[in-house]
Amino acid sequence: MASPAVIAHRGYAGVAPENTVEAAIRAAEDDETTMLEIDVQPAACGTPVVIHDDRLEGSRDGRPLTDASGLVWETGLEDLRAAHVLGTDETVPTLTEFLAAIPESVGVNVELKNPGTTELRFADALSADERAERRKVWTPFVERVVDACECFDGELLFSSFYEGALATIRELAPDYAAATLVWDDLEAGPEIARRYDCEAIHPPRNTVAGTGLAETSYAGFTGGEPEIDILEVAHAEGRTVNVWTVTNWHQFDQLAAAGVDGIIADYPGLAVDSSEH
Ligand code: G3P
Ligand code: MG
Repeated sequence: MASPAVIAHRGYAGVAPENTVEAAIRAAEDDETTMLEIDVQPAACGTPVVIHDDRLEGSRDGRPLTDASGLVWETGLEDLRAAHVLGTDETVPTLTEFLAAIPESVGVNVELKNPGTTELRFADALSADERAERRKVWTPFVERVVDACECFDGELLFSSFYEGALATIRELAPDYAAATLVWDDLEAGPEIARRYDCEAIHPPRNTVAGTGLAETSYAGFTGGEPEIDILEVAHAEGRTVNVWTVTNWHQFDQLAAAGVDGIIADYPGLAVDSSEH
């Protein structure tokens, strides 16, 4: 069985300041890296910047993120450039700067986070009218993201937990590849993928049937055999499955043996290490 593609989560956040240009270059130098996964949100002027949390001081995962504070989309570019990531010399890059820093041989998975509001919830089931309203929220941000990506010649894959983001990508950039991220509803993954013609589904690591990981609690799943075999369903429809987030070779081995197509990983070397065990 072919080894899964390795996608560097937040630019190998386990070993480098997350979502920074340094992380991008480090991953690009790592032979096994197929793609970099990064998170984007708009600055106050609408320019897409590469950062995970909605707040500069960090609002997720209990770790400080930069030495500045405030909502990303209320912060100007000058202030973002002055914000140091985790006390390093690295500042918050724009998407354009980030894409310019990596060679074409490394693809990029651009995850669309908040479009300038924290009001949205993951994978809302939307009526047709609500979808139209939601596209209005996403359109200015997705337009800027697509513009920034046009200068990049490597492989690009957009992903999002938000149905509104996928709907808008399909409207504005139908030729780009897209993936739906799954948080807590596995059956919604294939449904949303069908609705927006997504090439890939990105479920959490503990949703793959037949692995020991399915018994563990992670993301929106509390453990137990998944209600569907996501690999079987996705592959039958010609979609790939890239699983997040893998933090050790034991997880990597189990998911590789199950036949996932890609593994979004925090550490480099997992594919190499796993073959030695
Ligand atoms: O894209 C996979 C993964 O990055 C989703 O979770 O919170 O790390 O962006 P998060
Ligand atoms: Mg992400």
